[in-house]
Amino acid sequence: MTSAVAPGPLLRVNDLKVHFNAKSAPIRAVDGVSFDLARGETLGIVGESGCGKTTTGMSIVNLTQATSGDVIFDGVDLTHLHSLPKSRQLELRRRIQVVFQDPYSSLNPRKTLTQTLDKPLRIHGLTAAERKDRIAYLLEKVGLSPKQADRYPHEFSGGQRQRIGIARALAVSPELIICDEAVSALDVSIQAQIINLLLDLQEEFNLSYLFISHDLAVVEHVADRVAVMYLGKIVEMAPYQALFTDPQHPYTQALLSAIPVPDPRRRGARLVLQGDVSSPLNAPSGCPFHTRCARKSSVCQVVAPPLTGIAEDHSVSCHNL
Ligand SMILES: Nc1ncnc2c1ncn2[C@@H]1O[C@H](COP(=O)(O)OP(=O)(O)OP(=O)(O)O)[C@@H](O)[C@H]1O
Ligand SMILES: [Mg+2]
Repeated sequence: MTSAVAPGPLLRVNDLKVHFNAKSAPIRAVDGVSFDLARGETLGIVGESGCGKTTTGMSIVNLTQATSGDVIFDGVDLTHLHSLPKSRQLELRRRIQVVFQDPYSSLNPRKTLTQTLDKPLRIHGLTAAERKDRIAYLLEKVGLSPKQADRYPHEFSGGQRQRIGIARALAVSPELIICDEAVSALDVSIQAQIINLLLDLQEEFNLSYLFISHDLAVVEHVADRVAVMYLGKIVEMAPYQALFTDPQHPYTQALLSAIPVPDPRRRGARLVLQGDVSSPLNAPSGCPFHTRCARKSSVCQVVAPPLTGIAEDHSVSCHNL
């Protein structure tokens, strides 16, 4: 075999901005986010409510219009998806799927499990016989029984409904799945089952995940790398070991110190964040975190620190490391 050229990342997000129009000033929900995601890799995105995690995910799949920046999926810029031929759009949409927090609200209450799974398969052109086989296969893959195929969403538990959401995403053989708070609504024991399912599926199908969660403890179990967002920006990004054992940004340190885990590496004084969660409606000047930061100096109020590499794959945006 001839040596192949190393493929680029499956997904490259470059300086992505999503600003919403509001009466007074634009809401900078996502304000210059950049990252790569390799095939088979999981990038966790964490941060407090309102920091722009969902908006980042939704703009990648074009459900929210990006204001500027590039979303390059396997070499194709998805921010210009609408200018591509319809068949090409459908093909690209198939390759990225989303699993939401609350499958109950994203599942049609009047459709049985079979009908729910049948629809995407029909859109993507499978024959009736192929669809029947595929549905049986998908149910087995996500640990549901074919006997349950004619049931309606309300007849399933929360964990089972999330399995349906995963089966629906998996139906069209995607390469990237965006999991937006996919296990956040579930009991811890059910969370673990669903996470294990996602990890098994990732290994089997070489899936890439963008795993969005406000819960760092969940992300620690699944992510290869983690991006920490604050007010629309990534403030720290690192392989998960480095992020969890050697966090550098004061915001990451505060988030981690708030996780109640019996991990001796992380025992120590619990840092408490000062001030309220700022809103992207009135984001502070300079470093967006300076209003809550115990380490701030005068420069922080004026100059936004760039995300800077401090070790392999580890970058931080802070003036005072
Ligand atoms: N369609 C919209 N119009 C106006 N503002 C929006 C819209 N969608 C999101 N926002 C605002 O953008 C910011 C980011 O929201 P987003 O839903 O991305 O946050 P999040 O990090 O996913 O939060 P959570 O953890 O609560 O899910 C918030 O201030 C939100 O109010
Ligand atoms: Mg969200």
